[in-house]
Amino acid sequence: MRPELTPIGLLGLDGSCVTPEPPIPDAGPRRFSWLDAVWLLFLAGLAALPPRWELHKQVTLLAIGVVQLLEGQLIGRFPKRGAFYIVLLKILLATILIDHTGDVGINSSYYPIYYLPVVTAALYFGPWMTLVWTLLASAAYCSYLYPALQEYTLTSSGMAELALRIMFFFLAAMLVNRFAQESRRQTRLYQDLAEQLAETNRQLKQAQAEARRSERLAALGQLSAGLAHEIRNPLGVIKGSAEMLAQKLQESDTLARELAGYISSEVNRLSALVSQFLNFARPLHADLHTADLTALLDRVLKNVDEHWKGKPVQVERAYASSLPLVPLDESLCEQAFLNLVQNAYEAMEERGGTLRVEVARAEQNDRDGVIVHLTDSGPGIPDALGEEIFNPFVTTKKTGVGLGLSIVSKIVDGHHGSIRLDQGPQGGASFTIFFPLEESSEPQPMATITAG
Ligand SMILES: Nc1ncnc2c1ncn2[C@@H]1O[C@H](COP(=O)(O)OP(=O)(O)OP(=O)(O)O)[C@@H](O)[C@H]1O
Ligand SMILES: [Mg+2]
Repeated sequence: MRPELTPIGLLGLDGSCVTPEPPIPDAGPRRFSWLDAVWLLFLAGLAALPPRWELHKQVTLLAIGVVQLLEGQLIGRFPKRGAFYIVLLKILLATILIDHTGDVGINSSYYPIYYLPVVTAALYFGPWMTLVWTLLASAAYCSYLYPALQEYTLTSSGMAELALRIMFFFLAAMLVNRFAQESRRQTRLYQDLAEQLAETNRQLKQAQAEARRSERLAALGQLSAGLAHEIRNPLGVIKGSAEMLAQKLQESDTLARELAGYISSEVNRLSALVSQFLNFARPLHADLHTADLTALLDRVLKNVDEHWKGKPVQVERAYASSLPLVPLDESLCEQAFLNLVQNAYEAMEERGGTLRVEVARAEQNDRDGVIVHLTDSGPGIPDALGEEIFNPFVTTKKTGVGLGLSIVSKIVDGHHGSIRLDQGPQGGASFTIFFPLEESSEPQPMATITAG
């Protein structure tokens, strides 16, 4: 008759299951903390309990301590494989400890050491993997049944006790896993919130920059419109006088006639410039009617291409399907896109290149609208110029006036939209223009400039 196996000699004892304090999963390597010291203290406590002179037990406890201390670093460096190896190692060490702390492994009072791998798995893995790891830890524990059953028989109360212990492994695993999942969910929530906040912040800064630009343009417009107005009158007088002078001069005095001709032609050039400038400074009244933005873009692209004399430019179109009609002042928008497309062509004049035109539905600052990206493969805009290119008279071209982009900016303001300059993927300039589908109630500073 074989002796009865009544696992595990602890019936009637309460609270002997040492549930490990769950370590907080962290992203990177961490330093030795007071929690680690407490951990080591508990392990030292286990080492001081019987069987005290069992060398294998002490070495295994030491190994558990080392694994525990290195866990944060290992998982920080190899987030996926690290957790896998740590849990496996803990199951192995727990199984060894059990073997050296009881005359029969299954009867060891140290069986709660399996909570260590079980809780670790619950912290780092999802619910299904946690169940698999707990099953593995339970199987490792139950493997001691086999040698024990060679000498003992398993009573029904022993069986119930064993089942109870295993059930508690699963209960602890599921409970910790739920908390870990919840904590991960909260962390993700805070991360999303932080990202949203950063994005809102970025949009706010951009809106502030745009508002500053609009104010700057408005002030500049008012000042220079007054000046241009004052220049126009004397110019008219000079031009008239030069023409009269040319008429009165004798046929023979060719040099004087030539000089009068220069005065007249240069005055014409100046007048054209002044008119252009007054045009820019004049109040802009955008007459908005819903229109097809892509058809308008196609017209502008065709127009520029037909008159282009530089190296060939490929135009790539990426228009989203079923775009809504947009409230536009068609002639103003044609002017704006003409300036932008003309600039892009001029930037690729010497080498040729690609102009990519994308149109898509978009949302900006809670406003529904349509966004246009114009990205060229030219040399791009030097960082030093940055926002300044939207100021009037900023030009790097020999024959440029520097009004093109300031007019674009003014027209976009008149549509309650926004324009942004970025660097394209090939280093060229990339302009992003947003047109809202509904007019905003905010007053647009550039739309109300008055000429002097
Ligand atoms: N797509 C682009 N690629 C590179 N640089 C650009 C581009 N668009 C504008 N720029 C730079 O911005 C400057 C200002 O452009 P803007 O259209 O306002 O004036 P402009 O083209 O020089 O003269 P114009 O008044 O005749 O248009 C340009 O001189 C050029 O240096
Ligand atoms: Mg231009």
